[in-house]
Amino acid sequence: MTFVVTENCIRCKFTDCVDVCPVDCFREGPNFLIIDPDECIDCAVCVPECPANAIFAEEDVPAAQRAFTALNAELAKQWPSITRRKPALPDAEEWNGRDGKLALLQR
Ligand code: SF4
Ligand code: F3S
Repeated sequence: MTFVVTENCIRCKFTDCVDVCPVDCFREGPNFLIIDPDECIDCAVCVPECPANAIFAEEDVPAAQRAFTALNAELAKQWPSITRRKPALPDAEEWNGRDGKLALLQR
């Protein structure tokens, strides 16, 4: 099992999740964060920290967002670690909750 970052993180990237992770398993891309499934210890402490409610346990990922489980695993092999919170993307509040953000993912 692992926890998974899903679509609503895209173009928000609040990064509150990073500060609470005890094993530093978040990885950072230009406008999205993911969780390395090989490092996550399933502690769940990151879930309530996300202002975008973008983090789910693998078995609770909404049906329409199942592809994000594989996407997290794929990008974990490519993106560098992030271990400290930083400012959210400038228009994060504006993008929070919008649909169709997967098409805006930058790699
Ligand atoms: Fe880190 Fe725990 Fe969240 Fe996994 S569930 S990403 S170990 S804070
Ligand atoms: Fe993304 Fe939420 Fe973390 S928006 S960066 S998963 S706090």
